[in-house]
Amino acid sequence: MLDVGLFVSMDVQRFIDEAVEEIRREVQGKAIIGLSGGVDSSAAAVLAHRALGDRLVPVYVDSGLMRQFESERIEQLFRHFGLVRVNAGDRFLSALSGVTDPEAKRKIVGETFIRVFEEEAARVGADFLIQGTIYPDRIESEGGIKAHHNVGGLPLRMEFKGIVEPMRDLYKDEVRQVARALDLPVEISERMPYPGPGLAVRIVGEITKEKLDVVRTANAIVEEEVGSYQPWQAFAAVVGKGTGVKGDNRIYGWIVAVRSVTSRDAMTADVMELPWPVLRKISSRISGEIPGVARVVYDITPKPPGTIEFE
Ligand code: XMP
Repeated sequence: MLDVGLFVSMDVQRFIDEAVEEIRREVQGKAIIGLSGGVDSSAAAVLAHRALGDRLVPVYVDSGLMRQFESERIEQLFRHFGLVRVNAGDRFLSALSGVTDPEAKRKIVGETFIRVFEEEAARVGADFLIQGTIYPDRIESEGGIKAHHNVGGLPLRMEFKGIVEPMRDLYKDEVRQVARALDLPVEISERMPYPGPGLAVRIVGEITKEKLDVVRTANAIVEEEVGSYQPWQAFAAVVGKGTGVKGDNRIYGWIVAVRSVTSRDAMTADVMELPWPVLRKISSRISGEIPGVARVVYDITPKPPGTIEFE
């Protein structure tokens, strides 16, 4: 039995049929889809594949801002769709070099994604871009809260004849219903949301390779330890530097903040009250397994006033 949507109950099958119709109607010739492996873009990719078959080229951009082993897993899962993987980690890192402002980071990530998509589209002869943008992405961007990289972060000038966003009016729980009805694997349909700019918004301030390595490992540890509690999102961020003692030495190392929240739609969120032993284990694993970390803190701020991500 399908869940009932939280806001308005939806007819999932009807949505699927109409979305497939819409994609067929809007797209002439070939289209590419930016597939990140999250539930939104994965569901959009299946809809688009139903609509277009071989006229769809799914493109996975490894921005270097992805989580541990994520790129390899996505490649495995979507190989049968003819997925094209573009390794653009160095390009993103150099575009982001020296940038500290969160909105500037988002815009740069958005712009770089689009440029990579444009290049791929030109290579395969596609004029259309399909995206997995959902309703809260638009609301937060339009409301001036954060320019989500796939909405407000988009450059004004784009080389596409059209952008199709079949899920633009859905909330996350509705997207999950669609994903289940499309038979996506559970690891995708139930996956925690992950922001498009990825680890870039989990590093406060400038992004460097060293901070990326720290935050990637810390995220993997948090997901491993918290996953079974089914948070809306659980992750780690590098938020600054502080003094600590490791072995016999005083160090000036990274401060890693751990965040785990419950939410219905990401518009508001509550702090998850994780058992103390879980938090202790996370703390000792992060500081023990990552050499440059001096301190681990748990963020106890709900949204509002904090946003879910640190940037
Ligand atoms: P915030 O941090 O605004 O996040 O409370 C709300 C939800 O959106 C995700 N998020 C993003 N997703 N591009 C995205 O695709 C972005 O730029 C972005 N910023 C935040 C965040 O992970 C949470 O689920």
